[in-house]
Amino acid sequence: MSVSAVQNDKQIPMLDLGAQYRTIAQEIKNAIDQVLESQHFILGPQVTALENEVAKYCGRRFGVGVASGTDALIVALRAMGVGPGDEVIVPSFSFIATADSVSLLGATPVFVDIYPDTFCIDPAQIEKKITSKTKAIIPVHLYGQSADMDPILEIARKHNLKVVEDDAQAIGASYKGKKTAGIGDIGCISFFPSKNLGAYGDGGMIVTDSEEVAKSLKSLRAHGATKKYFSTVQGWNSRLDEIQAAILRVKLRYLDSWGQGRRSRADLYDKFLRGVPKVVTPKRSSWGDHVFHQYTVRVPKRDAVQKFLQDRGVASTVYYPVPMHLQPIYDSLGYKNGDLPHCESAAEECLSLPIYPELTDEQVEYAASMLAEAVKG
Ligand SMILES: Cc1ncc(COP(=O)(O)O)c(C=O)c1O
Repeated sequence: MSVSAVQNDKQIPMLDLGAQYRTIAQEIKNAIDQVLESQHFILGPQVTALENEVAKYCGRRFGVGVASGTDALIVALRAMGVGPGDEVIVPSFSFIATADSVSLLGATPVFVDIYPDTFCIDPAQIEKKITSKTKAIIPVHLYGQSADMDPILEIARKHNLKVVEDDAQAIGASYKGKKTAGIGDIGCISFFPSKNLGAYGDGGMIVTDSEEVAKSLKSLRAHGATKKYFSTVQGWNSRLDEIQAAILRVKLRYLDSWGQGRRSRADLYDKFLRGVPKVVTPKRSSWGDHVFHQYTVRVPKRDAVQKFLQDRGVASTVYYPVPMHLQPIYDSLGYKNGDLPHCESAAEECLSLPIYPELTDEQVEYAASMLAEAVKG
């Protein structure tokens, strides 16, 4: 099919979950049916099986299912002892949940800058932000690629801090032979539908190697109960349901091949965009596999480029237009424009293009050619 045929044929959406569903529809229906037949809806055998499977996949001993990726962060931070008056170091360029899970617990997010080429936290910026109140660091494996974990772990060891991985976007990615979420003290995963391992609703999981922490997580997700109707600490209602777990167990079996599919789409984008002036394609770090939750380029005059693409049937998204240190919710913390220059320029220039295994070669070629034309203008 020619590039112009693609243009006439159809729009290229940001994501096509329907295309994925059609490849696994019967297995999904069977899995849901099994739950309906069992009439066990919350924290049952499907959740337990998924907890074991995801933990094993991430190289961890324990998994604890919760209601969302945001809850995974909140509950994990609480289990790590984060509370009012504490400070937690986070990269400012991320989805707001990375920081508001901290502030929701009465702690203060302390924002640091990112590496401009990987969009992940710059470990060299962390140590200067550590104070006597610092309790933890949250590296975010943004867009499907691991943050540079070794220096982060070293700083954490030196200052006795917990490392809580925000692995909402990168399940399946790796760092020096280890899977993300399996590297720090505790890993937090999101099953939001658009994620690489997405449920058909909200869901999340926390993974850890500590039996004691796993016990505490299980209590915190159930009103702080240590046995039925007996609560010892303040907790939440944050439970994963059986239907979502059954769906996720089907999808987990495909996660690696879908990751491979995403990487091959990224290879094609790289090929078609090589040498295109003014377009900066995503860097792949040498330390492990990128699972391309997003394929994010940097372009000048980003909003005009996005409009140009939209007019030609190519969807794109800006993740994220305002770094967290400049979000109104954190006005009282006193950050200003210019404080974290790499986060600020990423917010101005980043543009994520459609990427999913079902995207055809022609669609990638068409999207890339439209981008090349857009930046010419
Ligand atoms: C980096 C990051 N952290 C946390 C979250 C929160 O996950 P959820 O939407 O499942 O609550 C997301 C998801 O959007 C995310 O992208």
